[in-house]
Amino acid sequence: MTTWSSIALLLGLGLLAVDAAAPWWQTASFYQIYPRSFKDSDGDGIGDLNGVTEKLEYLKEIGVTATWLSPFLRSPMADFGYDISDFKEVDPLFGTMEDFENMVARAKQLNVKIILDFVPNHSSDECDWFIRSAAGEEKYKDYYIWHPGFLENGERKPPTNWVSVFRGSAWEWHEGRQEYYLHQFHKKQPDFNFRNPVVREEMNNVLRFWLEKGVDGFRVDAIYHAFEVEADANGNYPDEPRNDWTNDPDEYGYTHKIYTVDQPETPHLVYEWREILEQFQKENGGDERILMVETWSPIEIVMHYYGNETAEGAQIPFNFQLISNLHMDSDAYHYEYLINNWLSLMPTGKSANWVIGNHDKNRVGSRFGADRVDLFNILLLTLPGCSITYQGEELGMLDGYVSWEDTVDPQACNGYEENYMAMSRDPARTPMHWTNGKLAGFTSGSDTWLPVAQDYAQRNVQTERGAPLSHLNVFKRLQQLRQEPTIEQGATEVKAVSGYVLAVKRYLSGNYVYISLFNIFDNIENVNLNDVFSGLPDNFQYALVTDKSIKQLGDKVSASSVTLMPHEAVVLRSTTTI
Ligand code: NOJ
Ligand code: MG
Repeated sequence: MTTWSSIALLLGLGLLAVDAAAPWWQTASFYQIYPRSFKDSDGDGIGDLNGVTEKLEYLKEIGVTATWLSPFLRSPMADFGYDISDFKEVDPLFGTMEDFENMVARAKQLNVKIILDFVPNHSSDECDWFIRSAAGEEKYKDYYIWHPGFLENGERKPPTNWVSVFRGSAWEWHEGRQEYYLHQFHKKQPDFNFRNPVVREEMNNVLRFWLEKGVDGFRVDAIYHAFEVEADANGNYPDEPRNDWTNDPDEYGYTHKIYTVDQPETPHLVYEWREILEQFQKENGGDERILMVETWSPIEIVMHYYGNETAEGAQIPFNFQLISNLHMDSDAYHYEYLINNWLSLMPTGKSANWVIGNHDKNRVGSRFGADRVDLFNILLLTLPGCSITYQGEELGMLDGYVSWEDTVDPQACNGYEENYMAMSRDPARTPMHWTNGKLAGFTSGSDTWLPVAQDYAQRNVQTERGAPLSHLNVFKRLQQLRQEPTIEQGATEVKAVSGYVLAVKRYLSGNYVYISLFNIFDNIENVNLNDVFSGLPDNFQYALVTDKSIKQLGDKVSASSVTLMPHEAVVLRSTTTI
């Protein structure tokens, strides 16, 4: 080792020792805002950025560290903002760039971090880049994936059998260019060609633009779709093999996705973006900027997004294990497996994250039963690492009823009335419930873009503030517990006590032991925690109870006999430190 590198190493170690504090995001509580449905400030029935700004104090009230906002950039709204026509402009429906800047400034005052939804896989077909690409302009002609298709008996056929997530062929014929373009989602969402370095640079500049504007990071949309298999020497793409469980060529599941998602190049894009964030921080200072990536991939592939031996990846590759694998009847062993599997597959030195809902999934209370709302909030917020909560889940909001006539989600509208409910994402996107007054206090107008859910008078911020054991107050109590050193930094053991009860032990030398307990089903259960954890202190007290509990906060309980009511979840704290 040269003298210089020894000095650098020593300096590095010194820095580590001084700056021992964990980065802000590592144990952060994230909150996803779907701006259309959060708060409407101008009475048009659609939420907007000034509405978000107005409610930033609410985020503070519920202990949120950072908020990821679904897209509010210029868009024809074919997929409600996930079809962007200008990556550097705010859509007038949501406000102006000035409104955005005010929101960021207010968030900074309150110390709430702002995370932008970055949608790199596709643009809108109304994006200038696509229009120029379709017109064959030299610089832009390869910005998207184009192919003439094939002529068979005088009839034009798409290049492959690839299917769009929103049903139907993933190829759309473009009259102007006389070629097909690829769209893995809506036909108004053409896929970018990430094999074109100019496109990559264009997207890098989008990141830089918003970093300059003061965002703290990005949620990266649909990253696993970014690359498709490379075309062969003739410029052709292969068909995907068939799945045998549907004969409907328009159904997304018709093909086995080996060429359209999870290509080996994809995580490297994220590594490249992480470098841009690091570079920006180096030049501008401030707290670490982060990437949260959306990839519905097998868990082994998800892990690549954390980075590899030579490159850093996303700090938060979304952990969808609980969303994808748990259902109503899953037992405690299943929960235990999914949680421990993530923790054990995660590369050394990385942090966990836990997600249970978002704007694409039915509400937690509708998927798992309204009785399990606190249970999932307690699980998410007492596991190690960061939690990600979708707006309204802190209130236990349920799916709103949206009739077929009122349905607007393209994923449902592209299908049939018979099964639209199974496809529609509208029920999880109905307006947020602020009060028990008119239209749940969401708007001063007379109408809303999706109907307000019928139970709003029961589940809303105003009413729940006043009920000591409401979902909202349980959520706030959890945020206080997250400040405890044990829950913030402690080690974790996750065990099923039986098929019915899950236990999460958090412990840290010199501090209290915390145990969260989850009675998943509807029987009364009595558990002896010594059956699953060794060396526990004998005595505990209730550190968090819910409206299901017959115990009070602070009541004493022995580790050898804890009784749980149906669907009850609690947090216990040892009476002595370890
Ligand atoms: C994932 C987003 O969460 C979803 O709402 C959207 O439709 C697709 N990506 C396409 O952008
Ligand atoms: Mg509005």
